Amino acid sequence: ILEILLKGLLRLEYRGYDSAGVGIDGGNGKEWEANARSIQLIKQSGKVKALDDELTKQQDMDMDVEFDVHLGIAHTRWATHGAPSPVNSHPQRSDKSNGHQGYHKGYEFESETDTETIAKLVKYMYDNRESEDLSFATLVERVTQQLEGAFVLVFKSVHYPGEAVGTRRGGPLLIGVKSDHKLSTDHIPILYRSCKLLVNCSLSDTCHTLFAEEKKSVEYYFASDASAVIEHTNRVIFLEDDDVAAVTAGRLTIHRIKRTAGDHPARAIQTLQMELQQIMKGNYSSFMQKEIFEQPESVVNTMRGRVNFNDNTVTLGGLKDHIKEIQRCRRLILIACGTSYHAGVATRQVLEELTELPVMVELASDFLDRNTPVFRDDVCFFISQSGETADSLMALRYCKERGALTVGVTNTVGSSISRETDCGVHINAGPEIGVASTKAYTSQFVALIMFALLMCDDRISMQPRRREIIQGLRVLPDLIKEVLSLDDEIQRLAAELYQQKSVLIMGRGYHYATCLEGALKIKEITYMHSEGILAGELKHGPLALVDKLMPVIMIIMRDHTYTKCQNALQQVVARAGRPIVICDKDDYETAKSSSRTIKVPHCVDCLQGILSVIPLQLLSFHLAVLRGFDVDCPRNLAKSVTVE
Ligand code: G6P
Repeated sequence: ILEILLKGLLRLEYRGYDSAGVGIDGGNGKEWEANARSIQLIKQSGKVKALDDELTKQQDMDMDVEFDVHLGIAHTRWATHGAPSPVNSHPQRSDKSNGHQGYHKGYEFESETDTETIAKLVKYMYDNRESEDLSFATLVERVTQQLEGAFVLVFKSVHYPGEAVGTRRGGPLLIGVKSDHKLSTDHIPILYRSCKLLVNCSLSDTCHTLFAEEKKSVEYYFASDASAVIEHTNRVIFLEDDDVAAVTAGRLTIHRIKRTAGDHPARAIQTLQMELQQIMKGNYSSFMQKEIFEQPESVVNTMRGRVNFNDNTVTLGGLKDHIKEIQRCRRLILIACGTSYHAGVATRQVLEELTELPVMVELASDFLDRNTPVFRDDVCFFISQSGETADSLMALRYCKERGALTVGVTNTVGSSISRETDCGVHINAGPEIGVASTKAYTSQFVALIMFALLMCDDRISMQPRRREIIQGLRVLPDLIKEVLSLDDEIQRLAAELYQQKSVLIMGRGYHYATCLEGALKIKEITYMHSEGILAGELKHGPLALVDKLMPVIMIIMRDHTYTKCQNALQQVVARAGRPIVICDKDDYETAKSSSRTIKVPHCVDCLQGILSVIPLQLLSFHLAVLRGFDVDCPRNLAKSVTVE
């Protein structure tokens, strides 16, 4: 169990890695029932490796210690409230041993985390239970009724040996179900506690439960992400908000307080397509590097079964029931955070062109701060790799309340955003583990282009342009490979730049998003200052930063902004700047004024941003390696930000 927990934590480490902990039964090799009376919490600051070392140390110190464990819980933390430290790490416990802050009702708190209040509340409600046979699931249900905000919780207790209860609201929780033989069912019915009389009895005893006959060979894994369970099973149940799932004596039950209209009375056991090797680094030094080099395939996966290059058609199954309504809307709003926001910026122009609709691109947090007006005839897109980003999820709920149609563009099947939107597109890029997003960006880009193509598929005047773009998509994977072959050259460039403090990245039109995204990559993993600058704004301020020392990267492609970009290049050169230019491979004109060029193949203008961003992904990667940083785990950042 310990091994499974630690491995699971390693797989989830990209979600947060400043501290980690496990909570397991007993630990002195005696009878399991007796061990269960004490739960050991072992927690460490730093990465999962530090926790692993600590566990090994504890086992080495006392050769007799055997962890005879049937159930355990574990957590990696990304600190929000309370600095990273063993005591602030999770799991949190209900009984303190060395608490310091007095608190009313006699409870003493040892950590600075908000989570600890939940552990204490469980204890309070357990101590004040009115009946001896209160089930663990009912106890948890009562506790969560007192909670506000988003949470994902898994509980174990000395009072309920061998039992685990998990619940969620706002965040993701799934249950992996592993069985050596075929399960007798593919769904778990919900047990509703609608009848008052049932309040105090153990539901699992009174109601029909699944897997009773299979209990000997079924294992259950609660996890916030499928990557933690995929090596054990690809059969999973995604819990819904306020579901309480309990494993008691080898049986799984799912409880809800009462049935409301529209509730599905069962949870399906789904089969995931994810492969273990997708979440392994293979021969690459980091996940980020692997993901950059996967892009020729990941964009194909985004298009697979959707783009037909022979008859120039696009089908998006996830939108088919809503596309007519979307075509009639009055405005498209793309809402996202971080890299996903940049995918919106990158495709805005082609969306405007092909849909002839006003398109707004919004950062989720700012969109909410402004209480942005949203109407019933708006269509709101939520672009999110993880599908769990709190700001994006809040914005989604805000738009739903106002009656807009909501569309998800996510990489995570079963994620909150993919489930809460009315319809959507899975980008199918495969699991992305590196905190700095790369292949998800290019796949989001492609997904939004496919949507734009679909929106105008019956517009005769648009057909030549549609064909041009679709044929651009056809050659895209090969062109991406060609850009990736520049890796050595970009590594040499990184060797010249890595000791610099700042990098400015300038471009306009289709490539403004590339500038923002390139600068974000550099900030995230190299900790250098970097700014993406709209070349059209150069003379309104940023030009003051340019001198012969400041590293400047410019993106100049042969599209309708080419001449204006040439002007910007001349302005930089006139101020003694020595720009490194990413340009079309046969653009000798630009090369003349550049101190150095990175030449990329030419593609249809609205897809060129996919080719111009890859050199910057590679550059940020090499800069981070040369500066000696952990590429996959940048300081202070997490892959999915589930707090506002
Ligand atoms: C975090 C990550 C970024 C990501 C952003 C949005 O900040 O570190 O890499 O772009 O969240 O995440 P999402 O999962 O919604 O695309």
